[in-house]
Amino acid sequence: MTRQFKGTVWITGASSGLGFSLAQTYLVNGWKVIASSRSKGELKLLLDSENKDRSAQDGLVFVPFDMSDKHGHSDVRVQLEKECSSLDLAILNAGTCEYLEIENPDWSMMSKINHINYLGLVNSVEICLPLLKKGNKSLLVGVSSQAVNAPFPKAEAYGASKAAIRYFLSSLRMDLKQFNIDVSCVLPGFVDTPLTKKNEFSMPFLMSSEAAASRIFNALKNRPFEYAFPKRLSVILYLARAFPKTWLRLNTNGSHSTK
Ligand SMILES: NC(=O)c1ccc[n+]([C@@H]2O[C@H](COP(=O)([O-])OP(=O)(O)OC[C@H]3O[C@@H](n4cnc5c(N)ncnc54)[C@H](OP(=O)(O)O)[C@@H]3O)[C@@H](O)[C@H]2O)c1
Repeated sequence: MTRQFKGTVWITGASSGLGFSLAQTYLVNGWKVIASSRSKGELKLLLDSENKDRSAQDGLVFVPFDMSDKHGHSDVRVQLEKECSSLDLAILNAGTCEYLEIENPDWSMMSKINHINYLGLVNSVEICLPLLKKGNKSLLVGVSSQAVNAPFPKAEAYGASKAAIRYFLSSLRMDLKQFNIDVSCVLPGFVDTPLTKKNEFSMPFLMSSEAAASRIFNALKNRPFEYAFPKRLSVILYLARAFPKTWLRLNTNGSHSTK
């Protein structure tokens, strides 16, 4: 007997952190999850031991995907088409972070991070758009960051890539309206994942990836243009934009001129 799912979602960056917790959340809520990343990572725990790319009831399917390597993308599209005739939802979550060390800057990192985060997300849209178009009022979601709401030290590459994602999605929303596809941009605050484990600065309102995934799952039911959380961080970053000189002073130990 064919199992009935509430919908089919493609989640990128599903091998760890937020993407893994999103995959778990959608699975538990009765969705078919097509999970992608380069490695299986934590997904190994959920995939059936006999058939290593699928879970027992085919609720979870793994499709390997390196979003920055365009050569393999037609294979990914073919594999997605094998798994579903249409997508109800795509959550383009995969991403990475590196910081610019201004004392000894590695400027090549700027293009590397933008290539992975921003162009990787654009590549992902190119792959899944034909399947979203076949869906009935489908939803395309990209994961940006609350970092775009105020400048952070060393975040030149990461912040710029996430700001590019936000603008790209806001423009795409207008162009996809005619296909009945909605577009949401998710802007998380600090989430406890392998990505943030290496941060040496304090991360206010840090939350677990499970809690973050649950918030995103609930918020996406309303198809918001943007979903930024937690709100307490949004308020602080709103104040940072309203008082930029104070924000600069707080983040530079007062060592810069604010003229
Ligand atoms: N954690 C936070 O506080 C936070 C805050 C704001 C926004 N975000 C965003 O949330 C998203 C998830 O981050 P996370 O914190 O959960 O980090 P994470 O645990 O490091 O997960 C990143 C995921 O992206 C995948 N990935 C990385 N490079 C890839 C590539 N070239 N092709 C395909 N997949 C790739 C990784 O899998 P493989 O290595 O197996 O490919 C992994 O599954 C990111 O876009 C991040 O910028 C996170």
